[in-house]
Amino acid sequence: MVFDKNNLKNLAEKYGTPLYVYEGDLILQRYHELYNFIPWKKLQIYYAMKANYNIAILKLLEKEGANIDAVSPGDILMAMEAGFTKERILFTANKITNEEMHEVQKLGVLFNIGSISRLEKYGQSYPGSEVCIRFNPDVVAGENKNVATGGENSKFGIFLEKVDDVVNICNHHNLKVVGIHEHTGSGIPETVQMMQGMKNILNLITPKRFPDLRFVDFGGGFKVPYHPDEKRLDYHLFGKEVVTIFSEFCQSYGKELEMYFEPGKYLVAESGNLIVEVTEIKQNPGKVIIGTNSGFPQLIRPMFYGAYHHIINLSNPEGPLKEYDIVGNICESGDCFAVDRELPEIREGDFLVIQNAGAYCYSMGGVYNLRAMPAEVLMVDGKDQLVRKRLSNQELIKSIVDESC
Ligand SMILES: Cc1ncc(COP(=O)(O)O)c(C=O)c1O
Repeated sequence: MVFDKNNLKNLAEKYGTPLYVYEGDLILQRYHELYNFIPWKKLQIYYAMKANYNIAILKLLEKEGANIDAVSPGDILMAMEAGFTKERILFTANKITNEEMHEVQKLGVLFNIGSISRLEKYGQSYPGSEVCIRFNPDVVAGENKNVATGGENSKFGIFLEKVDDVVNICNHHNLKVVGIHEHTGSGIPETVQMMQGMKNILNLITPKRFPDLRFVDFGGGFKVPYHPDEKRLDYHLFGKEVVTIFSEFCQSYGKELEMYFEPGKYLVAESGNLIVEVTEIKQNPGKVIIGTNSGFPQLIRPMFYGAYHHIINLSNPEGPLKEYDIVGNICESGDCFAVDRELPEIREGDFLVIQNAGAYCYSMGGVYNLRAMPAEVLMVDGKDQLVRKRLSNQELIKSIVDESC
């Protein structure tokens, strides 16, 4: 589903640019799709809110019954602001400090612990608690190397071979392991890679090692097409296979467990668009460079990962095709949204839409060069609502000065 172009143009005029616009109905569609694809009675979706923590999006998913995958105390507090109770949040602890550990424990949220060192510290501080353990699935897969989280070079998850150490530490501190977790990577290109990670984890679990399990969490990583020629993966078939494997597993474990997934990208990536305005056109010897009023602090994926984001020219969709570099207003030459991209002729003042900008775009943003982040608008049932305003330059500077000592 793609936004109506007129609609986006109206929104750009109404709210100004740069502007993030999200399609709430599409988020809900993707959320329900996963339940249809994976017909396991005890399936629970934990939204990886790092992908997009806008409170209106969190509230939308909260109402729908989703749960939250949180990665910091800040994530947890934000989720609670949106109405999620502690029982609906799982905290994946990655390189946390002791202070963060105590803060989260006070909030009463279940820990997902992915290192022997942290498990020891947690056990010493909170013997008798319930925990979830994150294992490294021993599969390297993801859209690019920065988001592949499995394998022997990864900083994430406890190696499978360490399972007996985990059991010993948990027994020693009387920790009750209620969940086992793995996350293979983001934007995993083949469902077989996801399946392999899942199988590797399930092979570890026996009732003797982990007698108190309530769930197994298979992380996120569902891929969305970023390029118009890219095919959608068949998660329908994947879901069927997952259910077969998991039900065999549950039979041998002796209990019907809950199955968790933690999608971020799949739920929100396609819902988002960043509308930018063309400020300058520069004719270089072999190139035409299109300058816009946004930049990598507002959408970093192309510069950070070399990620492809499809771009359309809202203002001149029928113009003759020409080749352009689309760049931002930041003082780095790497500040580029697209290189050698064919687009209908671009003129100064045109609105361009950077598509699939719902996940890891605003949430990875910042105010480098002291420009405020764009406003955010959420569309639900055809109605637009400003869900986060853009600070004026004065407000931005004041907020920084006020925080300074
Ligand atoms: C532990 C964990 N779970 C879930 C996710 C969400 O991944 P995705 O947005 O690809 O679904 C991530 C992404 O970094 C993650 O690290």
